[in-house]
Amino acid sequence: MSARTVLVVGASSGIGRAAAHQLAERGDHLVLLSRSREALEETARECRLRGAGSATVVVADVRDAEAVDAAVRGVNRLDAVIHSAGVVAYGRFEDVPKDVYDGVLETNVLGAANVARSALPVLRAQKEGVLVLIGSVLGEIAVPNMTAYVVSKWALRSFGRQLAIENRDVKDVRVCVVAPGGVDTPIYRQAANYLGRPGRPPAPVDSPEKVARAAVRAIDHPRDRISVGLANPLMRFGFRRMPRVFDALVGPMFGVAALEPEPLAATTGNVHGPVTARERVADGRGQGVGTVVRNLTGRGRR
Ligand SMILES: NC(=O)c1ccc[n+]([C@@H]2O[C@H](COP(=O)([O-])OP(=O)(O)OC[C@H]3O[C@@H](n4cnc5c(N)ncnc54)[C@H](OP(=O)(O)O)[C@@H]3O)[C@@H](O)[C@H]2O)c1
Repeated sequence: MSARTVLVVGASSGIGRAAAHQLAERGDHLVLLSRSREALEETARECRLRGAGSATVVVADVRDAEAVDAAVRGVNRLDAVIHSAGVVAYGRFEDVPKDVYDGVLETNVLGAANVARSALPVLRAQKEGVLVLIGSVLGEIAVPNMTAYVVSKWALRSFGRQLAIENRDVKDVRVCVVAPGGVDTPIYRQAANYLGRPGRPPAPVDSPEKVARAAVRAIDHPRDRISVGLANPLMRFGFRRMPRVFDALVGPMFGVAALEPEPLAATTGNVHGPVTARERVADGRGQGVGTVVRNLTGRGRR
């Protein structure tokens, strides 16, 4: 396998950091982008230890189109982009402050647009390359108390589909959306929160490494849409085919399966800036039967 150059956006934590590790193991050259220099430097060290051809750190906010463009212009060749940057806000729509609501949409939707706007002309000029966008099953269903995030993921799914269509004219330029269900990453604890209780991934919970594998595999075997998560088809089916049943169940189930029991003071989380101390690959919740039972019974965290 020849080494590729891959830009990983959102490389300092969770799925993006796991993807950087996996790309490093095959000797790829990596450009690692997010807002936290400290967490990125740590990720770059991990990647070098795993065999990366090179690991370059770019500290940038995806909301800053010029900074994103400078990162892309800084590489000689770009074989792929894994865009994994994203933030969450919990709370009823009217309880989430405007700056936080807007911040989620600016990061998750306009940030992805900034990345694609800079990367696609490079891929098209080369006549090959893959843009992988990390979407979510929440881009296909609705849940209460996560309006900004859900709206952003519906937008990201349509954005990916639009870009896939617009780039059909160049056979080897592909745009893929990877849609995970619940994944054990720090995103839940990093989230802005106006609900009074922290979020958690609803069972069944996948590992960030599993989702990263799907994203990395999409570079070699691109498909428009890749779903990761055993319960995703069931959720999509219920949402589309039995909307009344879905709506009646999703509220009570969200309170039990998607929220921790302990109280939490209102916070803007990492929406406006990074919370470096929390950044790592996995949050350590486990993915086994014990987690499913604990989530369903609402008992304990791990
Ligand atoms: N975890 C799940 O259950 C789950 C499920 C479905 C989909 N997803 C999606 O998967 C993607 C990765 O999430 P994750 O779970 O791995 O979360 P995570 O561990 O919190 O990682 C998010 C990454 O995005 C970066 N980021 C956030 N805002 C940014 C900004 N404005 N500019 C540049 N980088 C920014 C963060 O770094 P800095 O804060 O240092 O910038 C971090 O590297 C997201 O799009 C998320 O929506 C996650």
